[in-house]
Amino acid sequence: MFGLKLRETNILKIIEDSLAKLSRHGNVDIQLKNLLENDVVWIDYEQMVTTLFDLEKNAIEAMSDGGSLIIAVVGDEHQVSITLADTGVGIAEENIPLLFTPFFTTKPAGDGTGLGLPSAYAAVKAHCGDMTIESNADPNKGPTGTTVRITLPRRQILQNKDSKMIVHEDD
Ligand SMILES: Nc1ncnc2c1ncn2[C@@H]1O[C@H](COP(=O)(O)OP(=O)(O)OP(=O)(O)O)[C@@H](O)[C@H]1O
Ligand SMILES: [Mg+2]
Repeated sequence: MFGLKLRETNILKIIEDSLAKLSRHGNVDIQLKNLLENDVVWIDYEQMVTTLFDLEKNAIEAMSDGGSLIIAVVGDEHQVSITLADTGVGIAEENIPLLFTPFFTTKPAGDGTGLGLPSAYAAVKAHCGDMTIESNADPNKGPTGTTVRITLPRRQILQNKDSKMIVHEDD
């Protein structure tokens, strides 16, 4: 399902380009914190911009009264991790297991298709990476909000058997 066009790419540029696609972010304060010296990864630029855009859009939609989204990038020579932490309404505990199921949405019909997270998960998995989600929706338990973490290998060593890899070397 996912053919990958892997290219040497700067992950910070991908994050900046994904943020530039957001048409509005209301009262949401967005901060990007980079702890990487070398931000080069071999990834599919289009897929990863779309993935980050979907996650940022979810965060903003969860903060209709404003809040903050902190995107932090860390890593080592083998992998990079991008963490998106929002101060939104959070996700009810019973919904957490449903998040990667296509068409699961809590948004009004016409607003959400419920494909953002399943597509993001599939794209990250196709890159031999991983995605985890932690959330608190109960103000009695502490500040509400959601943290999504994506981890991507710097360069794929093992070829994911379900994905066709096309390495473009002509640009
Ligand atoms: N950061 C977040 N904060 C709160 N809830 C979230 C967050 N991200 C996802 N969710 C919840 O997970 C559900 C599924 O998210 P997903 O992105 O897959 O679909 P959607 O946002 O509803 O629709 P689409 O992405 O297709 O517009 C959302 O409807 C929402 O309930
Ligand atoms: Mg969404």
